[in-house]
Amino acid sequence: MAHEKYIPRLYGRQQDKPLKPRQARLMESLLPRIAVPDPAAGPVDLKALFPQAEEYQLEVGFGGGEHLAWQAAHHPKTGFIGAEPFINGVGKLLSAVDDDGLDNVRIHFGDARPLIEALPDASLARIYVLHPDPWPKKRHHKRRMISPWFFTEAARLIRPGGALRVASDIRDYIRWTLMHARNAPDFEWTAERAADWRVRPDDWPQTRYEAKSIREGRTPCYLVFRRK
Ligand SMILES: C[S@@+](CC[C@H](N)C(=O)[O-])C[C@H]1O[C@@H](n2cnc3c(N)ncnc32)[C@H](O)[C@@H]1O
Repeated sequence: MAHEKYIPRLYGRQQDKPLKPRQARLMESLLPRIAVPDPAAGPVDLKALFPQAEEYQLEVGFGGGEHLAWQAAHHPKTGFIGAEPFINGVGKLLSAVDDDGLDNVRIHFGDARPLIEALPDASLARIYVLHPDPWPKKRHHKRRMISPWFFTEAARLIRPGGALRVASDIRDYIRWTLMHARNAPDFEWTAERAADWRVRPDDWPQTRYEAKSIREGRTPCYLVFRRK
């Protein structure tokens, strides 16, 4: 199935309510300082983006940024790139970066897919895709982030021994992800027992979306794929 790259329609809205005044100020003052250069301008130079970092990780669709901010605070020598087209989410992550003085976060405000294509081969230790938009209707499946295109790009980007982490509370999306992972020869699913995908690892903080989903009675799954 062809992947509709750069499809302009994203799932849901790109803004829910006006930004808080502080977030609006940070969009003007902080975002330009920590934004990833436009991927249309050419390959992303990670060393230039993070002069101090020892390795790099990417979160696709960071939502409110809770997970990314936690990882960045706990791994100060890792450079974290977050991609998110939802302006309220970017505003929230900017507040966390400012509050916690995180100097190892860079933001791509927009669709992750052009960014993914502009990142260098074997440059990432990890990619996170946490609760990607479900696109439940069959005719929209081609818009899902997890796709053959995504696994090919993830295999190109993640260095051997690195990992792809995917979470979802939607059974069909988990099945979909495992099906595509089975067809991705460069990845192996690390789970050996049910607890490995049922229990959130300690170094995997809960996102806002996940907390809501548990409150509403759904059960998240945590998938870890190792780059061979
Ligand atoms: C269901 S939310 C989950 C957010 C967050 N990961 C969490 O767990 O709370 C899915 C997120 O993916 C983002 N998203 C959708 N399409 C995207 C794309 N092409 N590139 C980057 N982010 C995308 C949405 O804006 C939304 O914030």
